[in-house]
Amino acid sequence: MKIISNPLELKEYLKNCNKSIGFVPTMGALHEGHISLIKKAKSENELLVVSIFLNPTQFLKGEDLDKYPKKDEADKKICQLSGVDVLFYPQISDMYSQDEVSLLAPKVRGFVLEGTSRPGHFNGVLTVVMKLLNIVNPTKAYFGKKDAQQLNLITLMVKQLFMSVEIIPVDTQRDSDGLALSSRNAYLSPLEKKEALKIPLSLYLASKMVSKNILDAKEITDAMREYLESLEISYVEIVNREFESIKKVELKNTIILVEAKVGQTRLLDNIWL
Ligand code: PAJ
Repeated sequence: MKIISNPLELKEYLKNCNKSIGFVPTMGALHEGHISLIKKAKSENELLVVSIFLNPTQFLKGEDLDKYPKKDEADKKICQLSGVDVLFYPQISDMYSQDEVSLLAPKVRGFVLEGTSRPGHFNGVLTVVMKLLNIVNPTKAYFGKKDAQQLNLITLMVKQLFMSVEIIPVDTQRDSDGLALSSRNAYLSPLEKKEALKIPLSLYLASKMVSKNILDAKEITDAMREYLESLEISYVEIVNREFESIKKVELKNTIILVEAKVGQTRLLDNIWL
């Protein structure tokens, strides 16, 4: 596995490879969720590039940038064992300078849900993903459905800015008790982890209601909110695949999303129906 930290060196290295390139951008502290993206990218491309970059511009002031879990050595090992060909491992100064051009998330889709609880977050995500895609110039780039709004906005960016990469969505990986895997799960105490399980269970409750043909969005979100009562809920929302709020579940075109705080830890989850 080649490890490169300089963007121009990586660009040069990949320029003449004449292979299909699969790309998985991450912020490190790799877990089975990331690994599922890496495996899929490996199976669908001739060359596999993974980036690990804890992007400061997508964290708001007072968020967990400073305490975000760092597992450099373990991450490198995971990449090596997963057959990664090139690991892109830049420093902040490799990626950003003082006076920067940056992207703005769309005013509506970028500032609802996660964009309301973290205003400006998606500006940082889109800017860094644009930089990363321009450096790697991949055939396909892989993103988790767990961060559904991020996936939606990146897909939109690629379409609206006429970029040629194909964005591939990957299903959410969960641990054995149903909790969606996240680097931030490392913050949870055993007791908090138990509380956190209410999040996937509330989504299970929602899918059960839908299977009984209860399709009214308010009825479903009310039941979910009641179930999640002991947590600090940021949002429980039902949207279509365009991320527009809907009043009735439309099968094969619906995402039910939850963001809630357990202790100090903000957790996201969703199901696609
Ligand atoms: P990070 O949180 O490290 O996630 C990297 C990728 O892994 C994202 O596409 C995310 O959706 C996916 N992922 C995380 N948990 C997952 C799970 N349980 N199952 C499946 N996929 C999962 O998302 C980011 O980094 C950053 O915002 C980034 C896109 C790298 C830009 O900085």
